[in-house]
Amino acid sequence: MNSSKIIGMGFYVPDNVITNEDLSQKIDTSDEWIQTRSGIKERRWASEEITTFDLAHKASLNAISNAGIDPQDIDMIIVGTLSSDYFFPGVSAQLQESLNLNTIGAFDIKAACSAFIYSLSIADQFIKTGMAKNILVVGAEAQTKLIDKSTKGRDIAVLFGDGAGAAIIQKTNDKSFILSTHLHCEGKNIKNLWMEAPGTSPGSWFENNNFVPERFTPAMNGREVFKNAVKRFPEVINEALVYNKLSIKDIKLIIPHQANFRISQAVANRMNVDMNIVYSNIHKYGNTTAASIPIALTEAIEEGRIIKGDHIILAAFGAGYTWASAAIKW
Ligand code: COA
Repeated sequence: MNSSKIIGMGFYVPDNVITNEDLSQKIDTSDEWIQTRSGIKERRWASEEITTFDLAHKASLNAISNAGIDPQDIDMIIVGTLSSDYFFPGVSAQLQESLNLNTIGAFDIKAACSAFIYSLSIADQFIKTGMAKNILVVGAEAQTKLIDKSTKGRDIAVLFGDGAGAAIIQKTNDKSFILSTHLHCEGKNIKNLWMEAPGTSPGSWFENNNFVPERFTPAMNGREVFKNAVKRFPEVINEALVYNKLSIKDIKLIIPHQANFRISQAVANRMNVDMNIVYSNIHKYGNTTAASIPIALTEAIEEGRIIKGDHIILAAFGAGYTWASAAIKW
């Protein structure tokens, strides 16, 4: 059977750095509150003219360059995002046009913070079945355009940031490849982390008589999300270990979705692993939703934290709820 491997990664974040101090000038919060609750020191916020597509495009060019591949060899594009430039079509269509990739299949995946692993899993299946050879997989968000940046929205405003990460997934006969992916969803929790509108449910469109502005911004039940995240991350990491007959001692690095440093610490605690095998860069970027894992993976590679032959696990949890893991032999 065919296997697939990641042959190149890249990322891009907007220039506009927003520190905790900057936020506390505008809303009722503090550096101390944000750092103790989340580990975040600063994040990037895309300025008005920068869109999710812009970030995705730059990250893709970096991944293509690092992979050393001719872009014309790419035969599919998958983009994970919840903040596409347009309601429809997706960012993937804009990327296909901007990269000059003549009529190849391109689609978006809306699985929030798990969207990069969901997309990676889909890419892996297309390669395993022989339907594709080189797939561009992207996670990208300019989501801070959607959030309420006043004191009313402070629980969310301080946590999230913008950015994009991209990977080139290629068919391989190598011994290094994506070993497994496991995807989950529990839709009964939709309302614990969501943005209700715009949508097609009653009152979720811009009608004069029932326009409710609060519906047009993300809302979160932070405590519930926290409780579920610290349960689902270990579950799905263990699922990957059991499936591949690996022990946690075989894992060089776990790259969790960068939701919150306290969540990562709680996961490490529950799994009885040292934090030095749990990658974190949330202090610099905040929670970038679909972009967080590919950004973290790119930085981990650049820092020499992953070398050929290492086993790593990617893991995510987010809105839906969705959660997922990918085990990779690098
Ligand atoms: N600055 C200062 N105070 C804030 C604040 C902010 N940015 N956001 C909320 N508060 C206040 C609340 O209003 C509340 O005040 P009150 O006690 O007067 O009502 C107080 O801080 C405590 O709020 P609470 O929600 O109990 O805090 P918490 O300890 O649960 O931390 C989160 C809040 C959001 C940091 C935490 O629940 C969390 O990390 N959840 C997971 C979020 C996440 O990772 N989401 C993405 C998953 S993909």
